[in-house]
Amino acid sequence: MPVLQEKMTIVKQMEVAENIFEMTLKGRMVDELNEAGQFLDLKAPKESMLLRRPISISSWDKEQQTLTLLYRAGDETTGTRALSELIGGQEVDVLGPLGHGFPIHEVKRHEKIVLVAGGIGVPPLYELAKQLSKKGCQIIVLLGFGSVKFKILEAEFTELKNVTVQVATDDGSYGRHGHVGMLMDGLEFEPDAVYTCGAAGMLKAVYNKYSHLKRLYISTESRMACGIGACYACVVHTKDDPEGISGHALKVCEDGPVFKGGELTL
Ligand SMILES: Cc1cc2nc3c(=O)[nH]c(=O)nc-3n(C[C@H](O)[C@H](O)[C@H](O)COP(=O)(O)OP(=O)(O)OC[C@H]3O[C@@H](n4cnc5c(N)ncnc54)[C@H](O)[C@@H]3O)c2cc1C
Ligand code: FES
Repeated sequence: MPVLQEKMTIVKQMEVAENIFEMTLKGRMVDELNEAGQFLDLKAPKESMLLRRPISISSWDKEQQTLTLLYRAGDETTGTRALSELIGGQEVDVLGPLGHGFPIHEVKRHEKIVLVAGGIGVPPLYELAKQLSKKGCQIIVLLGFGSVKFKILEAEFTELKNVTVQVATDDGSYGRHGHVGMLMDGLEFEPDAVYTCGAAGMLKAVYNKYSHLKRLYISTESRMACGIGACYACVVHTKDDPEGISGHALKVCEDGPVFKGGELTL
């Protein structure tokens, strides 16, 4: 798949939860998108900020040639804050689509598929759920947030066919009181496949519960520089070589961000 660099046009941008922004971009990049879970590298609109910001693609609309990102803005010194101040009609310099996303070719109509996501790890699972929904399988989406203030995309997931959504918040301000692992423990069936994205602790909990599954897919994060596999800034160690002694490491930007459960040390 070719990597494009493009000045995409902002169709709209709004704050959808506390400090979380939804940005819709239009451009030919959308023609290249197929696999949910890939990401874009966005240049912050500040000359002093040389490194791009990696943000997952939350969904796309091929007909409209648009894609949507959801991201958390940091304080005034951050690139994400500068991005959040852009408005409709302005342009963003974007590199993508990058990385390998969530494979779904093996999913069959009768299967039960579980999606587990937390916080700002939720966005890439929305496009995944959209695609799985078309396959006619049964999809159970478990979402965890710190508080209702940070809750995103619940309504969008709920509208999809064949999708059931459960939400937990750490402070009990919405849904089940507790973390998303509790929702996972409440499931009374064995899923055929599990897809997950979120904070490190949550990924570990998902891995501990479902490591026996052949189809466990984990989307991970790391600090990035080039975003295209050249600088080795984003290296993670494999399960077979947790200390990185063999020199065979994986690059999150190129080999990931989605890995098979068991490939990585979590
Ligand atoms: C594959 C991937 C997908 C991601 N998807 C999303 C998403 O959909 N929504 C979202 O809100 N966040 C996402 N992130 C995290 C996001 O990239 C960082 O929060 C963001 O780069 C921080 O930039 P900043 O300008 O706010 O912070 P600054 O403090 O200004 O950043 C300084 C530098 O550190 C890097 N950096 C800081 N935190 C991270 C991080 N967690 N991961 C990688 N680089 C980091 C920045 O890119 C920048 O180069 C993703 C990260 C990765 C690796
Ligand atoms: S960020 Fe440069 S190799 Fe991944």
